Amino acid sequence: MRIDIISASPQLLDSPFNHSIIKRAQKKGLVDIVIHDLRDYGLGNYKQIDDSPFGGGAGMVLMIEPIANCIDQLKSERDYDEIIYVTPDAPTLNQKTVNTLSLEKNLLILTGHYKGVDQRIRDIYMTKEVSIGDYVLTGGELPAAILVDAIVRLIPGVIGDEQSALTDSFQDNLLSPPVYTRPADYKGSKVPEVLLSGNFKKIDEWREEKALEKTKSTRPDLLDE
Ligand code: 6GU
Repeated sequence: MRIDIISASPQLLDSPFNHSIIKRAQKKGLVDIVIHDLRDYGLGNYKQIDDSPFGGGAGMVLMIEPIANCIDQLKSERDYDEIIYVTPDAPTLNQKTVNTLSLEKNLLILTGHYKGVDQRIRDIYMTKEVSIGDYVLTGGELPAAILVDAIVRLIPGVIGDEQSALTDSFQDNLLSPPVYTRPADYKGSKVPEVLLSGNFKKIDEWREEKALEKTKSTRPDLLDE
């Protein structure tokens, strides 16, 4: 898979992709993450990328030309399965969307800034828009990193234990059951007996029951879906 990200603050994306599992996935050639600095497509001597909104109001709006020129360039190099704008005024990202995106070959992600982007960019180029939740961040870089992380971990070979991505919270609309490791007794706080029993049928049943209990108490909305 190849993922291109267009950003006006590309430094914000340095860290999330250069450590741990996502870094290893790139090293193994399982995913290619390429970041494009919108400023490189800026207009004039000052490499302008934003301007004040028509009709007035606070904040700056990312201009159409720099983004269009960048996207046109990338589209001339390969076909994109989805061109995604990350923005708070969009449907909320969920595991189902992530699962679908993880099967694609080429993704292009546009991150917004300031007051957003000229609406025509959204109308003309975007095939999908996602928010990561009902709160506002300073820009789309962290949301883009979250989206990429959620997608990349589902690519076969990225996570060592193949079983583990399938048994995540949300894959079956249930939250994960609690987990424990040594010591079995920490100052009198004990690990549930069944997990030490070696009876795997009983353990599976216990985990299912706990997952259901936890979902009912903290996210009952998931059970209605
Ligand atoms: Cl995708 N962008 C920004 N700036 N804020 C957000 C968001 C995205 N999703 C939730 N809040």
